[in-house]
Amino acid sequence: MSDNNTNRDSFGSKFGVIAATAGSAIGLGNIWRFPYVAGENGGAAFLIIYLGFVLMIGIPVMLSEFFIGRSSQKNVFGAFRRLAPGRPWYLIGLMGVVAAFMILAFYTVVAGWTLEYIYQSLIDGFAGQSASQLNDMYNSFIGSTWRPLLWFFVFMGLTSAIIMAGVHKGIEKYTKILMPVLLLLLLALVIRSVTLPGAGKGLEFLFRPDFSKIGPSTILVALGQSFFSLSIGMGTLITYASYIRKDENLGFTALSVAMADTFIAVLAGVAIFPAVFAFNIEPGSGEGLVYITLPNIFNQMPGGYFFSLIFFILLTVAALTSTISVLEVIVAFFVEELKLKRRIATVIAAGSVSVIGVLCVLSFSSMAETKIFGFTVFQLLDFTSANIFLPLGGLFIVLFVAWYINRKAIDKELSNKGELKAGYIPFYLFVIKFIAPLAIAFIFLQGVGLINF
Ligand code: TRP
Repeated sequence: MSDNNTNRDSFGSKFGVIAATAGSAIGLGNIWRFPYVAGENGGAAFLIIYLGFVLMIGIPVMLSEFFIGRSSQKNVFGAFRRLAPGRPWYLIGLMGVVAAFMILAFYTVVAGWTLEYIYQSLIDGFAGQSASQLNDMYNSFIGSTWRPLLWFFVFMGLTSAIIMAGVHKGIEKYTKILMPVLLLLLLALVIRSVTLPGAGKGLEFLFRPDFSKIGPSTILVALGQSFFSLSIGMGTLITYASYIRKDENLGFTALSVAMADTFIAVLAGVAIFPAVFAFNIEPGSGEGLVYITLPNIFNQMPGGYFFSLIFFILLTVAALTSTISVLEVIVAFFVEELKLKRRIATVIAAGSVSVIGVLCVLSFSSMAETKIFGFTVFQLLDFTSANIFLPLGGLFIVLFVAWYINRKAIDKELSNKGELKAGYIPFYLFVIKFIAPLAIAFIFLQGVGLINF
């Protein structure tokens, strides 16, 4: 494996690596998806299972992706071909590229909604509206055709512009500015939310577990959510790790990113559930949860106009630092495997994702009744990517590193050729050899109903 791939773009600093990688992980998955999924699956009990999965499965999978990416210095497909020449492992890479198309298509739809909400904040469109009016406003917006389509394309355009600018001058430059601001604004929101009258019930929902609400499918959903939130299981982090310099500490990076991601998800829960309960909204009310409750909080806040505007800008930002990471998977693949220019690769990738994206937008309007296995196109992509593609991808990724790669190569990469101690390696290997694959396989088979324990 060549260490001197000098023509390849890379992240310039330690903070740059963390900002970009945490930027990928922290996104709508934390602020939009986590609260509504936790809300639908019992709150605190879900959170505990979720945390367990992040620690025991998420971090080891993440580190495995870092290993694959940095040691190969390639896109997802090329990475497996380089580490396992002539073997079918590259199929995992192909599956990753397919998953990137699926995720980017539905994710960009929701990201587009954030732009509409910036616009509504700007024109003070939430002012004086009751909870049920905000609910109607949300439903009539997503159920219309042209506005969500417009915002979808604007968002895809923004994502493409950053990707065209490159890894160092695009991805890293923007994430370094955007991520710290996100944290500050979320903290401000948390403070407002927990000081609302009646907030205690929301905190109880999030932190006092009721295990009677947990079933086999909840466990699969918690696993899927942890994978989705950490950006693991499809090669986003393989791609990003291929830009990490050889002197960075991969173990430390994985731990920091996973902790930052989990912290932000919990914080988003703390910002949202107290408000949900304070305003008597159903915690299991689905994808609309944050788009309906947050404007409601802002209406009650001094300076709400301002907070609302900033918050939706920041939600946009969180989404953008994630969409770029998914688009990068496809673009790096096109550039390195199909030898396309970065610009052209970006246009083709974004254009083809948009075709599926349009179907996702229409899933809330003219195609609302078009169901596949009982799901709209949007729901199908959301559900199958998180609950099927990512766990399967994660399973094969850990099996690959644990059982195909030799121990020396792992030691060398994770210790930076002996520079770092990396005393966790034996434990990590034990987890990826036995615990993680068995747990993922079991939860997966149980969750989709193929076995019944
Ligand atoms: N993790 C991001 C979020 O929580 C979304 C995301 C980016 C993602 N890249 C991914 C999800 C790769 C799954 C796989 O918003």
